[in-house]
Amino acid sequence: MSRKSSWRNRLSFYLLAIGSACGLGNLWRFPYIVGENGGGAFLLLYVFLAFTVGLTLLIAELMIGHFTGVSILKASKRVALQYKRPIHLFGWLSVFISAVTLAYYSVICGWVLHYLTQFLLSLFQAQPISYLSQTSMMTLYQNSWLQFLLASVHLLISIVIVVKGFAEGVERWIASILPLFGILVIILLVKSLSLDSTPDVLRFLFYPDFSKLTWASIGHAVGHVFFTLSLGFGTMVTFGSYFKKDEKLPVIGFRVTFVDTLISILAVLLIFPIAFSSSKKPLTDPSLLFEVLPQFLAREKGGVFFGLIFFLCLWLAALNASIGLLETVTANLVEKKPELKRSLSAWIAGFFILGLTVIPAFSGTLFKSFKVHGQGFIETMDSFLINGLLPIAGLGMVIIALLSLTEADRKKLFVQDASPTSYNMYTHWRFALKWVVPIVILLGLGFQLFEFVSY
Ligand code: PHE
Repeated sequence: MSRKSSWRNRLSFYLLAIGSACGLGNLWRFPYIVGENGGGAFLLLYVFLAFTVGLTLLIAELMIGHFTGVSILKASKRVALQYKRPIHLFGWLSVFISAVTLAYYSVICGWVLHYLTQFLLSLFQAQPISYLSQTSMMTLYQNSWLQFLLASVHLLISIVIVVKGFAEGVERWIASILPLFGILVIILLVKSLSLDSTPDVLRFLFYPDFSKLTWASIGHAVGHVFFTLSLGFGTMVTFGSYFKKDEKLPVIGFRVTFVDTLISILAVLLIFPIAFSSSKKPLTDPSLLFEVLPQFLAREKGGVFFGLIFFLCLWLAALNASIGLLETVTANLVEKKPELKRSLSAWIAGFFILGLTVIPAFSGTLFKSFKVHGQGFIETMDSFLINGLLPIAGLGMVIIALLSLTEADRKKLFVQDASPTSYNMYTHWRFALKWVVPIVILLGLGFQLFEFVSY
């Protein structure tokens, strides 16, 4: 059965799209980004942008894939040929971002693996896990080879899964255990919300103080919306190219956005009470999740067990996202070079990405003194990639969605029933795609650039 024809039932598509969206972006990146941007007001801005800019673009990316039946590189090439404009550069940008992001993502997945093994070891050792929170992150930061090794293990597992053609099965299997992860997060959430710091956290998160927002926060929120919903990478285009006719794109888009946003909010509610109770202030560092959670688990009964299952589930969710990214790069390579076998393409893409992981893995030692406006290498790379390049790729998606489909095509794919509400929604979506998304992206980029030069 070919991969395309096997995308039979809709549930399986949901599992895959949600599986790609939910990952480290929700549990690791979102909490410290909210912390960095001052809490409640940013959260509100983020949710608003997720359901306007994010949802609009998610539907558009699925539509491009569904209509053209190809990945982003080929779709952009067609538009470029038709309009005689270099629009294929956007396609290349998306593939480039996917490759670099996977390299960077693998290093963070390596951190997860490190904690997973530490929890596993503490099952057999007398050492208290409070020891973990203090020393593990330091060990990682100072040991680039260890980071590289862990990232390589993670990436190799992803490569083998894609090469062997197990990607769909594994993705579906992991996605189907995600609800279990959700239950675990809720159990931990209840425990963390019983801490004394909860009232302060709720005030911080749900009593928005707009004076804490800067103009550049718009750019940070847009970047994260794209990252967490897997937009701008071409992943959703590839997914869209797989599923069968008559899919309800707006409904799929809405559900994926809803679940992803819900998980991000749960993550913040889980992490912040612990962070507040330990330092009275939410940390704004990428190590937030990794330092705070073991600290908390050390005090809880059965903490080792919870920690073990938590980091295992987190790693599986991240593995799912990694497979999606590698699949995107591989699918584009196969379409570009059809003479290469799919498995060979996956090896080539995988090893190229493995080479790239050297840069983030060694950032703590080789680029130790690297600082841009007080930020270290990893944070600078993260901002440049996710808040800078990704929205530009998103702009490319808007252009491709507008040029590769005619108005009638778009309308047909969007409007399922002939009800006036559907037509109304279509008009809103088209307006958002044509105007709101590009304007917000450009404003976000502009404000960040302004902040950067006037620092
Ligand atoms: N959305 C994923 C996350 O939040 C990251 C990702 C991006 C996965 C692009 C696949 C493709 O962790």
